[in-house]
Order: sequence, then C-alpha cells, then structure tokens
Amino acid sequence: MSEPVYQTEALIAEDIDAYLATHQHKSMLRFITCGSVDDGKSTLIGRLLYDSKMIFEDQLAALEADSKRVGTQGAEIDFALLVDGLAAEREQGITIDVAYRFFNTEKRKFIVADCPGHEQYTRNMITGASTADLAVILVDARKGVLVQTRRHSYLCHLIGIRNIVLAVNKMDLVGYDQAVFDDIVADYAEFAQSIGIEGFTALPISGFRGDNITAPSENTPWYTGPSLVEHLETVEVLSSVEAGKPFRLPVQWVNRPNLDFRGFSGLIATGSVKPGDAVRVLPSGKTSTVTRIVTLDGDLEQTVAGQSVTLCFADEVDCSRGDVIASAENPPQAADQFEATLVWMDDEPLIVGRGYWLKLGTQTVSVTVQQPKYAVNVNTMEHVAAKTLDLNAIGVAEIITDKPIVFEPYADNRALGGFILIDKITNRTVSAGMLHFALRRAQNVHWQPTDLSREDHARMKNQTPKVLWFTGLSGAGKSTIANEVEKRLALMNRHTFLLDGDNVRHGLNKDLGFTEADRIENIRRVGEVAKLMADAGLIVLTAFISPFRAEREMVRKMLPEGEFVEIFVDTPLEVAEARDVKGLYKKARSGALKNFTGIDSPYEEPLSPEIRIDTGAMTIEEAAEYVIRQLLPLK
Ligand code: ADX
Repeated sequence: MSEPVYQTEALIAEDIDAYLATHQHKSMLRFITCGSVDDGKSTLIGRLLYDSKMIFEDQLAALEADSKRVGTQGAEIDFALLVDGLAAEREQGITIDVAYRFFNTEKRKFIVADCPGHEQYTRNMITGASTADLAVILVDARKGVLVQTRRHSYLCHLIGIRNIVLAVNKMDLVGYDQAVFDDIVADYAEFAQSIGIEGFTALPISGFRGDNITAPSENTPWYTGPSLVEHLETVEVLSSVEAGKPFRLPVQWVNRPNLDFRGFSGLIATGSVKPGDAVRVLPSGKTSTVTRIVTLDGDLEQTVAGQSVTLCFADEVDCSRGDVIASAENPPQAADQFEATLVWMDDEPLIVGRGYWLKLGTQTVSVTVQQPKYAVNVNTMEHVAAKTLDLNAIGVAEIITDKPIVFEPYADNRALGGFILIDKITNRTVSAGMLHFALRRAQNVHWQPTDLSREDHARMKNQTPKVLWFTGLSGAGKSTIANEVEKRLALMNRHTFLLDGDNVRHGLNKDLGFTEADRIENIRRVGEVAKLMADAGLIVLTAFISPFRAEREMVRKMLPEGEFVEIFVDTPLEVAEARDVKGLYKKARSGALKNFTGIDSPYEEPLSPEIRIDTGAMTIEEAAEYVIRQLLPLK
C-alpha cells in the first residue's frame, strides 16, 4: 500500500516559498480549528483543502484508493483520511506540536492550525491559537455544546481570538433541522456571554456533504448567512486591526554595516510609521525623528503592521536589541511587576520563586512567579486554589522581573503583552503568558544613591569581597569546615562573616520550612544578605544545603564575576546518614520528618564547583587548609 502524503510541516516547509510567492498579493488569514475527529474536524479540513485544489495529484490518487479500502458511506472520498495520518504520527510519539496546512482561494490565502482537542493537548492548542485571527469551533449537531466546546472556546478567547465561528457540523445527520441548529446556537450564546465572548458567527454545515462550505446549500434554505469559505474570505484579519493601533517596533538588531549607516531592524508589531514621524525609544525614553525606512526592496514612504523594516533616525540615539521604538506622543510603559495569566506547558510544574527567563518580543529578562492567586478549571471555568501550576494548567499570578520591560496589556497588544517562560537549565519553553497590568509597587521604591561605594568599603578593609558558598547534604560537614575556614581567614586579618543554615532559620528565615518553595526563598534571602555583606566589603561564608542548582546559579549571578565561590562538600549520602549527628536521617527514614534532603527531597550536585571537598579523603583541618590554598592569593 502506498503511503499517502500528508501536508505536514516538513512538506510545507519546502513549498512555502513557492506558495507565498504565488499568492503574495492576497491578504492572509490564520485560523485554528477546534474539535475532535468525532466532530468531523479532519473531514472539514480535508474538504477545504480539496475544494481549494490544494491536494496534489499523487495524494488524491492515494486518497481515493484509501477511501475505497476503508469504505465510506456514500461519499466518494473520505476527506478525513487526508489529515488523520497526523493522529497516527502523534500516537507514535513524533512531536508534531501543531500541524499547519495551507490553502487559498481567489480572494485570500489561509493557514490552518490543526491542533488535537483533548485536555492533555491544551498547550498545543494555545500554541496554535496564539497566532490565529479566527477560530472555528466545531460542534456535532447531534451532540450540541459539550465540555470540550466550552474548553476550546475559553482557550481561544483567552489567547485573544476575537473572531469565533461556531460551525454546527453534520447537519445532514439531523435532517437539516433548523430547530436543532437554533437550540445549539442559543445554548452556545449563553455560554459565550458568560466568559466574555462578545460575538460569534454560527453556521450550519456538513463537511462530509459540503453544505455551506464554499456556497450556500439548498438543504438549508432557512439559513441566509455566508458559507464558511465566504466568511473566511471576508472577515477582518488581525493585521488590519493591529494597523490601526499606535506604532510599536520591538528592535531585533542594530544594523551597522559601516560608519555611514546605522539602522534599527525589526518587525512592526502595531501601527505604521513614515519618514518625518517623531519616535521614542523605550525604556530610555529618548526621542528622534525617522529619516528613512529601509527594506530589501528599497526605501518606503509608509509602512504597516507585520512588515520587517530598518529605521534610520535623525539623531544618534542609544537603541539596542530588546528596546521598543514607539510613536513619540503615545509610548508604552515599562514596569517590573505584573499580574499575568500563565498557561503551563512543561511536564515539570511551576516552581514558585525560582528564576526563569521571560521572553517578550525581543526582550529577555529574568523573572520569578509568585504563588498563583488561582488556577482555572478549563472545563468549568471555575477559579480554584493552587499552590503551583502543572502541565496544561492555567492560572493567574503576580510575576516580578529583574529589570523593567516595555509592555502593553495583552488585550491591547499581543506582541507587547504576550510572553513565554524558559527554564534556565533545560532551556525548555515551560509556559506561555499574557500580561494583564503592571503593579506599581517597585516604581515608588527608588535606589538610594550612596557616597561610599562598594569599592570604597572593600578598600577600607583592604580585601576583595567574596562569598564562599558551601553546599552539600545535611551532615556533610559544611558548617564545621566553614567555621574552620573562617578561623583561618581571621588569623590572616580578613574581615569575615559566617551565615549558617541552622542559625539563620532561627531568625531571618524562621517563617520558612523545607518545601521546595520555602527552600528557594531561604536561599534567595541568604543570597541577598550575602550580597549586601559583600557590598560592605566582607568575605562571607555560607553553609546551607542549597539543594538546587538554579538558586545557586541565581546567587552567583547576583555578584560580580569571580566573587562567588561554590564549594561542594562532597559527602555521600551513606556516610552522612551513618553519622546522623542530629538524628534527623533516622527520623526521615521513619517517616516522622518529611521533605528531607537525600531521602524524599532531591539534592542537585554542583556540576563544576570552584572547589570540591572529598570529605572521605581529608580531615576537617585538611579540608579548611585546602580551601584557603585554593583561594590564594587573597587580595
Ligand atoms: S536548605 O535546603 O534550605 O538550604 P538549610 O541549610 O537552610 O536547608 O537547613 C538545613 C538544616 O535544617 C539541616 O542541616 C537540618 O539540621 C535541618 N532540617 C530540618 N528539617 C530538614 C529537612 N526536611 N531537610 C533538610 N534539613 C532539615
């Protein structure tokens, strides 16, 4: 049997240039289809591709052969076979996150994102919907509005799709009965209103029979609206909506081929610009005037949203990747604390307090997420309490970035309000998010300038500040060795201070326990304190289990290069447990103590610590000597 060729991404990638070249002049509509195979989604997409002649000859032959073999009820071709191949690929575990298909009519070109509809594929649907102008929500006329219909509609609305099509499919199987259609529409209208969907277009169709797909059907004389394709051809696309908004261009790169030319390149997110326009660069706020708009096809006099351009300015203003160029009189704001919706997309749940990378347009900053205010049950839209967010969960939380970012609420501007979170260690995209609004807290807290600098403090103490960060299991010997090292440093006339886990947990951190989130907060605070002490010129020694790589790296990044010295006190679990100085391992093994590091809570060993101490090979004194020797010459 010959394998039918499906229009998967790989195939499309080769044809896309030719496709776009042929249909360049037409406007483009991106849409997403929501529903399951049972609702007739594959049949509908197959029908759209077939009617627009986007199926190649060899595929058609294979399709006809397959349809005969499978045996369809009356129709010559089973369009579902055209697209269902993907389902098989998914089952094999091949990562097709979202399948995109291309077709075109006389008036428009189209890109359809076809995402699986089950709840476990929420992340795929969010990915597919994030660039869509329109969503087709498929409902089986025999079944009406189902839980999944609500879920799909909620997700599409959440991601900002404002054109919703309710396609009531399989009308042939209910005898083209208007009453059935009207009931479903009324039902859906009530639901849509409850979640804030302002309007939708309802169509009675049969993907299988072709009713109201490309032309009005004789079977539904009571329906006077457009066919699906007519609607898709005429609905307003997002880019024309974006064109009416204020001008925003996130800078991708600074184009400086020689000393005579300096331009700022990027894709226009919203609005338009022309030579002579006054613009403002954010976050700096510097203004200038556009002199030229350069593209590969020559200079432009006017631009629109969605175009890639290079702008030249009348003045030498500082502007680099991540900045946003905006209209001078109506610029966006910058802030570092927000309320946001997060869609969690990673198998590992959200870790509250941990640093992630946040990418918003061309800006990348470090961000931490607070405990969610609530999560949303995607089937009922109820708000439920949540400590974290698991795969496919959706929640609302406050987030804090380490630097201000230029933004607009997602509802006003997808490009400046939509973001992704990336795990700093695995580099995986773990979440998609939407900014609601900025919290103004940090803006009222200013940095107090001080006359005595960090360097002055260090000079007065005649030493270079350092943070000697001891990490290892409970009972590894961190505190004991750190104490010995401190004594030796004191003998060398160094100014030091030792922060010890057990002690700090009696004071500053007495509100913290040993959950993952609490440990992260423990280390964050200790890191901040150690940094302040290093600013004061001290050599700081810390003795904390600090079990997670991410937080140790976070502290490292808080300090100037070279000041953070990670010291791994490498004592195997068996040895620490055999010693059990505080009797805690015994308690943990018996179940009386939960979340104990090494027993039921992980310890992530340093991958390349500055210093590693093999406690099996040295005494405490030798270990301390060894550390000091590694630190020499101590300036
Ligand atoms: S950390 O993981 O947050 O870095 P920290 O170093 O502050 O831990 O505290 C560890 C000390 O707390 C241990 O040496 C031990 O005495 C005590 N302790 C009490 N409960 C636990 C626990 N569940 N896991 C680890 N240490 C615990």
